[in-house]
Amino acid sequence: MKVLFAGGKGLLGTSITPFFKKRFDVVSLDIDEWDITDREAGEAIVAREKPDALINCAAVTDVDGCEDSKELAEKVNSRGAAILADICSKQGIRLVHISTDYVFDGAKGFPYTEEDTPNPISFYGKTKLWGEEQVLAKAPASLIIRSQWLYGEGGQHFISKILKTARERGSLQVVDDQRGSPTYAMDVAGPLAILIANKESGIYHISNSGSCTWYELAQEVFSTLRMDVRVAPISSQTLNRKATRPAYSVFDIKKVERATGVIMRSWQEALREYLQRSQTRINSVRRQA
Ligand SMILES: NC(=O)c1ccc[n+]([C@@H]2O[C@H](COP(=O)([O-])OP(=O)(O)OC[C@H]3O[C@@H](n4cnc5c(N)ncnc54)[C@H](OP(=O)(O)O)[C@@H]3O)[C@@H](O)[C@H]2O)c1
Repeated sequence: MKVLFAGGKGLLGTSITPFFKKRFDVVSLDIDEWDITDREAGEAIVAREKPDALINCAAVTDVDGCEDSKELAEKVNSRGAAILADICSKQGIRLVHISTDYVFDGAKGFPYTEEDTPNPISFYGKTKLWGEEQVLAKAPASLIIRSQWLYGEGGQHFISKILKTARERGSLQVVDDQRGSPTYAMDVAGPLAILIANKESGIYHISNSGSCTWYELAQEVFSTLRMDVRVAPISSQTLNRKATRPAYSVFDIKKVERATGVIMRSWQEALREYLQRSQTRINSVRRQA
């Protein structure tokens, strides 16, 4: 099976391509080689590569930035997804489109299923929902994967940012009124590969299990690493960011577990493995220097 990634050099793409490369023939491209909003380029690339599945990881993911750069966010997250769906539909390719917990408003208070009605409260969330809708309208056999609170070996994310701040300042403030499931990007790969191989379609939620607030996640990171860092809980209102985030976006992940037989491990277990791997990498770089 051949898999083509768009936006493949971002956090998720970088984290999952090694897993896919062990099982499938993989071509991973990013914006420097393929801008997904360029229809002609997309048609030519898909016709040249002839993949069995196209995984769309390309997106404008700066949630606050999307409030300022609305045109760009809409262009990439909605119209870009629509263009890929058109191309896949015409060329008979399975489209796997990656989406987000930010399609929900966070008011539910208990885990969101795939059947719950989205109601995004940020412009980023709106563009991602429009993207999902376009994909399902134009290529109904597509697979839509919603994930959340991702971290991993590639790119910038919450954990890399708090570690940098902690090393620079020794203390930090972290919001304690948003609850979700931190998800090791690598853990998305296994169930995703099974869904693709089984030719599943429709919406699936994938995250590690359990939940916490960003503040609790920061505490877990520093205690696991035995770092003496002062972490103060604050409210989202105090942080006063441009985009509003859902206060609660935990997923119900039973659908993907049933479909794939993969039981998603807890966020704490996944985090421990990620931090151990990061430490091993840092130590080996130090030894080589
Ligand atoms: N990170 C999370 O916590 C999270 C949570 C839930 C869902 N998701 C979803 O997961 C997917 C992957 O996100 P990620 O975290 O890997 O984001 P990311 O690190 O920002 O990666 C996105 C990649 O897409 C590229 N890109 C931007 N515009 C493009 C275009 N027009 N054509 C082709 N590539 C383009 C970006 O390039 P530049 O960096 O050069 O712009 C980047 O390499 C997205 O759909 C996102 O909505 C992410």
